Amino acid sequence: MRTVHTIAELRARVAAWRQAGERVAFVPTMGNLHRGHIHLVERAREQAPRTVASIFVNPTQFGPNEDFSGYPRTLAEDSCQLEAAGLDLLFAPAVAEMYPRPLEEMTAITVPELSGLLCGASRPTHFRGVATVVGKLFNMVQPDVALFGEKDWQQLMVIRRLVEDLNFPIEIIGVPTVRETDGLAMSSRNGYLTAEERAIAPTLHATLAASAERLRAGERDHQRLAEEAKARLAAAGFRPDYFEIRRARDLQPPAGEQDEDLRILAAAWLGKARLIDNLAV
Ligand code: PAF
Repeated sequence: MRTVHTIAELRARVAAWRQAGERVAFVPTMGNLHRGHIHLVERAREQAPRTVASIFVNPTQFGPNEDFSGYPRTLAEDSCQLEAAGLDLLFAPAVAEMYPRPLEEMTAITVPELSGLLCGASRPTHFRGVATVVGKLFNMVQPDVALFGEKDWQQLMVIRRLVEDLNFPIEIIGVPTVRETDGLAMSSRNGYLTAEERAIAPTLHATLAASAERLRAGERDHQRLAEEAKARLAAAGFRPDYFEIRRARDLQPPAGEQDEDLRILAAAWLGKARLIDNLAV
C-alpha cells in the first residue's frame, strides 16, 4: 500500500491505473477506523482491481461547538489496518491541501431539502460540509465506484443526490451497517462512551428493531410509535434528538399505505457521544 498526501501524487497514481484500463473503487473516511470501515474496503476490492481510501477529518462538516479538534486522529494504526485489508492507495491530505483558502472563501456544494432534515435540523451546516468534501474527493480520485456505510443513511442519500444532480459518473454503493454482537452500530464515536454508557448504547438498536417489528406487525400510528421509542431511550439514559419513520429514498414522512419502502432513523446523545442508527422496515 502506498500513502500519498498531495492531490498531484494521488492523480499521478490513479492516472497510471486508468491508462492500464483498470477500474478504481474509492472509500472516503475520516480515519479512526473500525471493522465497519475495513468491511467497506473489502467490499471495494470486490468491485475493482484498484482501491483508494482517504483519511481526512473534514473541518467543514463540524459545527462550531462540535468535536473537530478532539476527533481521534490515528493515522499510523489506520494505515496498518488498511494495508492488511489489501488497499492499494491511501490519500491522507492536510487541511491546507484540501482547503487552500479560508474556508468561508471556498466554493461549497449544497444539496437542498435532504440536508435540512433529521441530522441536518440539529447540525445545519453538516451536510454542506459532507457534500463539498465528497464532491472534491470525487474530482480528485475520479473513481468508477464509491462505497459508503448505511449507518449514515441520510449521508448516503445526500451523496446519491449530489452524484445525480451534478452528473458525477460514479456508482454509489451503500454497504449494510456492521454491528457489535450486542447490536450497537460500529462508529468512531463509540470511543467516547464510558463503560457504563457502552452498556446502555445497544438500547438504540434494540428500540429501532422493536419499532420495525411493530410496523411490520401492522402498527400504523407512527407518531405514537416514535414517542414511545423516545421515552424508552430517555428512560435508558439517552437524550433523544429524533426518532422518525421516513421514506427511505427522500427521507420525507410517508404519505400513506402506498409508501412501502420505509426506514426508521434515530439520533440520540449518550454522555458526550451523539449516536445515530437506522433500520429498514
Ligand atoms: O462518513 C464519513 O466518515 C464522512 O462523512 C465522509 C464521507 C468521509 C466525508 O468526510
